[in-house]
Amino acid sequence: MSLNGNRFYVTTPIYYVNDIPHIGHAYTTVAADILARYHRLKGDDVFFLTGTDEHGQKVEKAAAERGKSPKAHADSMVENFKFLWRKLNISNNAFIRTTDTEHVKTVQGLLQELYDRGEIEKRGYSGWYCVPDERFWTGKDIIEGKCPDCGRPVEQIHEENYFFLMSKYQDRLTQYIEDNPGYILPETRKHEVLGFLRNHALGDLCISRPKQRLSWGIPLPFDDNFVTYVWFDALVNYFSATRYLAPPSDWWPASHHLVGKDILTTHAVYWSTMLMALEMPLPGNIFAHGWWTVDGKKMSKSVGNVVDPNEMADKYGIDAFRYFLFREVPFGLDGDFSEDALIRRTNTDLANDLGNLLSRFLTMAEKYFSGVIDIPPGSTTALNEIARSFINGSLNAFKPESWSHLLFHGILEDIWAYMVSEANNYIARTEPWKLAKGNPQELKTVIFNLWNGLRMIALFVYPFMPSTAEKMWNQLGLKSLVEEVDRSGINEGEEFPGIFQWDWKPGYEISVSKAEQLFPRIEKPEEREQKIEKKKEPTGGKHLLSSCKPQHQVNDLKTKVTELVVEGLIGIEDFAKVQLKVGKVLSAERVEKSEKLIKLRVDTGEERQIVAGIGKAYDPEYLVGKKIVVVANLKPAKLMGIESQGMLLAATDEEGMMSVLGLDRDVRQGARVK
Ligand code: MSP
Repeated sequence: MSLNGNRFYVTTPIYYVNDIPHIGHAYTTVAADILARYHRLKGDDVFFLTGTDEHGQKVEKAAAERGKSPKAHADSMVENFKFLWRKLNISNNAFIRTTDTEHVKTVQGLLQELYDRGEIEKRGYSGWYCVPDERFWTGKDIIEGKCPDCGRPVEQIHEENYFFLMSKYQDRLTQYIEDNPGYILPETRKHEVLGFLRNHALGDLCISRPKQRLSWGIPLPFDDNFVTYVWFDALVNYFSATRYLAPPSDWWPASHHLVGKDILTTHAVYWSTMLMALEMPLPGNIFAHGWWTVDGKKMSKSVGNVVDPNEMADKYGIDAFRYFLFREVPFGLDGDFSEDALIRRTNTDLANDLGNLLSRFLTMAEKYFSGVIDIPPGSTTALNEIARSFINGSLNAFKPESWSHLLFHGILEDIWAYMVSEANNYIARTEPWKLAKGNPQELKTVIFNLWNGLRMIALFVYPFMPSTAEKMWNQLGLKSLVEEVDRSGINEGEEFPGIFQWDWKPGYEISVSKAEQLFPRIEKPEEREQKIEKKKEPTGGKHLLSSCKPQHQVNDLKTKVTELVVEGLIGIEDFAKVQLKVGKVLSAERVEKSEKLIKLRVDTGEERQIVAGIGKAYDPEYLVGKKIVVVANLKPAKLMGIESQGMLLAATDEEGMMSVLGLDRDVRQGARVK
């Protein structure tokens, strides 16, 4: 039963069972898990659905290649997904398969309803068909006899088929998206869909396949010679699950459909218009995330660069993998995956910043107080600046807009900037080892504050890294995190349960105990090899010299510096003319009638207005609170009539996608960049 009566329903795409799961499948499913866990923490009633898409040509073909019936093939393949979700700690409430009898009945029921309402019509049709994509194209769409989407050859087909009269919903859908700004996110994707709807005539949708061409599908209830187009069957899963897999109550419409950018049209256009024709409510939001590439290349079996999530979780740990996916790249943009980057993130953010913080605290608590934490009886909020930073941090990291816009990357950044770094700085500032020599009362307060700070960090990282949060919780001497959240209850008018308050008290004695390291530092393969090599080296004079040097100097001795040829070299005195400063974004909004321009108010020690051409890569909300680098002494200029007092720095990749320069560590605004 929910603590606050709110309902939250999140879905992932249902995955084809023609292949084993890869990082793309894991990405969306972990994202949905993060949302589901966050909403449960908040006290909402959550229904989290994932599952498999088991009909259609792709699956039929894959089954035939394995010499199995499509159903027997699906039965075995589905286990790979279920296994991976258990491994990645996915807390889905239900798993739908489109071969479930109840789903099949719902699809047929809705088809019949649309047919009875005159929304489906039979027509003769001839078109170009892409077999692997199971999609028709017109002569105008295809490029040199190939599918414009996947580049594979298309076949010309003439046949009778049933069509859903989608075209008549074009204006209504356009209007709906314009009136509901959060319906399609991120904003850049919304603009793409709107651009498409405004500039192209929407066709009707072929929703049947003749049985002689494809038998593996749901028969049309009004014509047994046809099966249902796989997308019509698949999209209905989001609704049919609420009828037989969700706890009893009315779960439709969903709060969020999470999908990859490649399947946004099927959701934003097909599904939305299907619902309109059925006079059913539309979901709250469709969020399209970006794609992972490897070394800048699309993942593919033939290239052999497909990232296996099972392997990554086994090698680096489940929570490190989950954290990396959402900290490394803003959700919505494309990102490049590399094990080096994963190792770097794990070692810096997790092993160093978070793991060491917990371990230093536990060592001090055990050394000075035998692990017993003295919880002050009265209110502690007014006490100290660390409490203030944590309270501000928590307000920032758990801003409702950050969650409704799925700004996972910014949320994690805030948790680290305001909470993890703040706690580490607090140790450096208060120097507990000095207090231990003559100020036991102050030492007690410092240890309590750190305990409380770590307790809050555990709560905040829980949606992203649930088992790390539980481990922290236990080492801090607390009982089960999830149960305690529920027990703490929500006070009237509060957004979060009482356990999120700095002043929360456990109501029992606290004795902390150090257990396993949260994140042991990972050595890169070459570091390991270097160590082995070093061990093998005989200790002659020459080697003695190099083994006394730090590693980077050893490399320097061996590496010859190659000559660089760069045109237009400048001297340091020229560079010194450019004043670069750290700026904090105070507010950001789109410039009217411009897809590219965003107007920002930035604090660079002085407040200024900057107009930047980054609107295709960023949502304004995402930028608020971010630290950026600004050219502070640029002559003001006008862009679309709006004055820009300086310029922000951003990199652009080959595809023109922009990435705004940030800072590796938190530095105050106004600081010079040299
Ligand atoms: N069965 C359909 C979805 C039906 S939903 C009603 C389908 N299945 S799929 O198995 O192909 O899964 C695709 C999901 O994985 C999509 O959301 C897609 O965007 C995502 N990814 C596939 N490759 C990806 C990357 N390289 N990176 C991130 N996600 C990617 O489509």
